[in-house]
Amino acid sequence: MPWRVLLQRNRAWAERMQAERPGFFAALARQQSPRYMWIGCSDSRVPANQITGLEPGEVFVHRNVANVVVPSDLNCLAAVQYAVDVLRIEHLMVVGHYGCGGVQAALLQQRVGLADNWLRHVRDVAERHWDLLQRLPEAQRLDALCELNVIEQVRHVAQSTVLQDAWARGQAVAVHGWVYGLHDGLLHDLQVSVDGHGQEVEAVYAQACAAVARRAAVAAAHA
Ligand code: CO
Repeated sequence: MPWRVLLQRNRAWAERMQAERPGFFAALARQQSPRYMWIGCSDSRVPANQITGLEPGEVFVHRNVANVVVPSDLNCLAAVQYAVDVLRIEHLMVVGHYGCGGVQAALLQQRVGLADNWLRHVRDVAERHWDLLQRLPEAQRLDALCELNVIEQVRHVAQSTVLQDAWARGQAVAVHGWVYGLHDGLLHDLQVSVDGHGQEVEAVYAQACAAVARRAAVAAAHA
């Protein structure tokens, strides 16, 4: 498809929106007030708005290879800080997906180039959970690591100064971990939600990891 077609499609879309919803763009131009933030993989098959049925203005998005959140990544942290402190989003979802190429490269230690250095963060997740992963049949390992990677990144978000400060001042904001199935288009909740009210991040984290191990064992038994 020639690249100029994208611009033509954009014009058609904007005209259609304006015809169906007069004032839609004018209202959005004045302000955004999304209730949700999405931290997902850059993979073209996992578009935040389409998957969740959200419109422009409804979800604040940060995406990178393999949906990684590390405390030294100012790009990601600045987006989280703006979303929490300024936009005052209520829910932040870390969203991984099965069959993630970045997670697979980290698992199999495949060299892909510069991204190897970024994927080292996912490799760290694999090494942290190596006891579990190595007990699984190879076919189950990638799915399990995709889930574990989300659970780890939820913990990183929850431990960030941004969320810790928000919770300390009583702000209502929750962090969740989801994984998306490329094969069926469905999102799954990994039950790792934390909102700063009571649940210890570490306890929720441990439960979610144990659930991955249980699911993987069941899947392995049926394989
Ligand atoms: Co991916």
